[in-house]
Amino acid sequence: MYIKFWRLRNYPLYPMDWPVVGMLPSLVANLHNFHDELTVVLATNGCNFKARGPVASGMRFFVTAEPANVRHIFTSNHANYPKGEDFAEIFDIFSGTIFTIDGEAGRQHRAMFQNILSNPRLLALMASCCRDKVVNGLLPFLTRMGSTRTTFDMQDLITRLVFDLTATPIFGVDPGCLSISMPSIHVATAMDTFMEVGLFRHTMPACFWKVMRRLNIGPERKLAMAETVMHAFIREMTEKSKARCADLLDDVLAMDIISANPSVGRDDVLLRNVLIVHMIAGRDTVGTTLPWVFYNLARNPRVVSCIRKELAPIASLKATALASNSISSVVVFDPKETEHLVYLQAALLESLRLYPPGPIERKVVLADDVLPSGHQLCSGETILISIYAMGRMESLWGKDCHVYRPERWLSEDGAKLRYVPSNKFMAFNTGPRMCLGKDIAIAQMKTIVAAVVWNFDMEVLEGQSIEPKLSCILQLKNGLMMMVKQRE
Ligand code: HEM
Repeated sequence: MYIKFWRLRNYPLYPMDWPVVGMLPSLVANLHNFHDELTVVLATNGCNFKARGPVASGMRFFVTAEPANVRHIFTSNHANYPKGEDFAEIFDIFSGTIFTIDGEAGRQHRAMFQNILSNPRLLALMASCCRDKVVNGLLPFLTRMGSTRTTFDMQDLITRLVFDLTATPIFGVDPGCLSISMPSIHVATAMDTFMEVGLFRHTMPACFWKVMRRLNIGPERKLAMAETVMHAFIREMTEKSKARCADLLDDVLAMDIISANPSVGRDDVLLRNVLIVHMIAGRDTVGTTLPWVFYNLARNPRVVSCIRKELAPIASLKATALASNSISSVVVFDPKETEHLVYLQAALLESLRLYPPGPIERKVVLADDVLPSGHQLCSGETILISIYAMGRMESLWGKDCHVYRPERWLSEDGAKLRYVPSNKFMAFNTGPRMCLGKDIAIAQMKTIVAAVVWNFDMEVLEGQSIEPKLSCILQLKNGLMMMVKQRE
């Protein structure tokens, strides 16, 4: 009674803080709708609140969606807010890589990736892989589905596409997930497991999941099996990569990683983990974003028309060339052709605002500090930054913050993209650890979305339940059933 009264008086929508068990029951009860619940709580509590786990668990959280705090944590005082040891333990499969390390070692890994991801030869290889997969995998599949009016799971399709186009430049070998036989995608499923069990570990006191790991039960058993699958895949692909002729080997990203960092041997555990992280960085992000993009587009025909209007001048030039060569009627757009298309980019950013693939960032406090919001933080406390909630705050995006409206990213005349600071739009992170693959990701997504939107009308099947999975990434729990029709 007292707790209820205290809660209503002080914080209208604060998660219930029970004696002994803390806020754990509230968390578990709302887990199915976690991100939306968190958004409401943050919106009604001025973008910040503190939470705690069960007594003696040591779990103390500060949750924020305030850009000034984000700037302080990620940029001005970032050395005081590492990912921390708990995070590295939770994601031990990525041990020793850029995903889990902080400080000087993190800076060195970042410099290595920066070097690799700015190599024009590799960028050209990534762009041509993406185009090949669109031409030979995605469009033929959609044409078949359209001509037979068959429904299909867009998330599964995108998972296959992005898995192939991420792995091919890394190993120089196409795993062929998006091929006519549509083979089982157990490696992609294993990668999903890393993120699902990652969330489970985040919500439990560490001692709980460590005991489960030792006993090899529950989610920990599933994780151990997923690790075995992933390691076997990396071994097999590396073998296939080595079996190709020596001069071609120089063309793949795995070799770039080795030559950029001589301490990483070809068969080393660290190399294996770095390769896994590369697969995750490319696949989990673009692969998670695109189904939401198609979901938003299918429900917003006006936006689809605006994208087609922007593509039309390029497509008409291509149509003339195609007619004279009498090749297939589908049109594919190259990265150079879509680079300057601002409306298409705004449509992607708007989807990322509402559905960021990584909905939460986690940091730990090294030394006691005071945030710009006035909140005091103690050493050892964990900070959760809800990127999902930040994209839906009325105080940041206005009254129509829940509406999918790409125009908010454009200048008055629609000719340019507006500047939006990265501490307000956090999908690609902010500060010195900002995403290194942003431009690559945007270019890949433009190629894929332009090809689909130009050649097909899309429809989301009515009556399906659209909700995020319980995972560290914002995948759709039940997939996304769609139908397409090839345009005249
Ligand atoms: C929609 C696409 C993408 C989104 C939204 C995205 C988002 C992010 C975010 C939020 C982080 C910070 C992660 C963290 O430290 O907790 C990050 C880091 C990173 N991303 Fe991306 N990413 C995308 C695509 C890519 C792609 C395609 C690549 C590689 C080709 C890539 C490479 C990286 C790397 C290397 C880092 C580590 C940077 C560092 O820690 O210093 N990303 N990305």
